[in-house]
Amino acid sequence: MTGLFTPIKLGSCDLPNRIVMAPMTRCRIGADGVPVELNATYYAQRTTAGLIISEACAISAQGVGYANTPGIYNEAQVEGWRNVTHRVHNKGGVIFLQLWHVGRISHPSLQPDGNLPVAPSAIRPTGEAFTYDGLLPFVTPRALEAEEIAGIVADYRNAAKRALDAGFDGVEIHAANGYLIDQFLRSSTNHREDAYGGSIENRLRFLSEVVSTVCEACGPTRVGVRLSPQNSFNDISDDDPQTLFDRIIDCLNPFGLAYVHIVEGVIHSPDKIAPPFNYGKLRVRYQGRYMANNGYDKKRAEAALASGAADLISFGRPFIANPDLPDRFAGGVALAEADQSTFYTGDENGYTNYP
Ligand SMILES: Cc1cc2nc3c(=O)[nH]c(=O)nc-3n(C[C@H](O)[C@H](O)[C@H](O)COP(=O)(O)O)c2cc1C
Repeated sequence: MTGLFTPIKLGSCDLPNRIVMAPMTRCRIGADGVPVELNATYYAQRTTAGLIISEACAISAQGVGYANTPGIYNEAQVEGWRNVTHRVHNKGGVIFLQLWHVGRISHPSLQPDGNLPVAPSAIRPTGEAFTYDGLLPFVTPRALEAEEIAGIVADYRNAAKRALDAGFDGVEIHAANGYLIDQFLRSSTNHREDAYGGSIENRLRFLSEVVSTVCEACGPTRVGVRLSPQNSFNDISDDDPQTLFDRIIDCLNPFGLAYVHIVEGVIHSPDKIAPPFNYGKLRVRYQGRYMANNGYDKKRAEAALASGAADLISFGRPFIANPDLPDRFAGGVALAEADQSTFYTGDENGYTNYP
């Protein structure tokens, strides 16, 4: 019976187990989005995961939305990441980089020349941006001109190439959690009247162009895509998520990706009522590897793998306080609880000092 410790081939990588470390922004990157030694230590502590997915990394200066987060758009950042991948590979780990453009989830103080953040449409999200001056209210973003979109697609391609150059085994396109690609996908945030808005086919166009160019740059077996059909994080919603995400899966199938990574339900506010959604239907529709996430523990994960509901399970918060999570699962050891107050701030405390 398939379980967490059944090896699996993921694209061109042979993984010893199906326990994936989910991407997690930890806001401890060095100046100018350049990873430092502390970040390398953090990832190197977690290499018993079958696969590590890095925290989200901005594909361009415009793609940045939080203080102290990394980029993958210049040589200094590539060099910083090279140290991380080297340390991970030395311990036998496999690591993908998550490609990120936040769209409207940013603030002028984080943007080049203090510009407005960009989005498919000029619709202000409710909530606050995580800036170097603390939490500041979101602003109304500037709607992208149609002619600018090709440049952002090219930024994804260049960032993906840089990720491979930095030694990553592959990349994950972050199309989840209310960031730029998700903003294009959803009816609530995309009110465009050109080829990138309106019908589902049009709202899908940006994702499809990004996936296509990143697959050309890296080869499809080194590319994953993260989606979050029900998630309302970052003030996002859709009129008809089931139809939309069924169509997204149809669009992704022909690429032959390494995997799709599905955030099931709502993150960060689990009590929030989400629109109904059938993940089993999505799973059956997708012809490649299905990675499930959100609130899994060992028991639920084993059940999902045994029933075929998923091929891999990613764990976020459990990896924060349990760097050797797979060993703890194997040994039936009780898990340590992560300290929420150090999720997004601080130094080695709450980052690399968990036993
Ligand atoms: C501190 C923290 C940072 C996160 N950063 C990211 C991120 O950079 N990219 C992303 O796709 N999801 C991010 N997430 C969401 C997680 O990947 C995951 O979907 C969520 O924590 C639910 O999984 P879990 O129940 O196993 O923790 C983050 C979650 C946490 C707790």
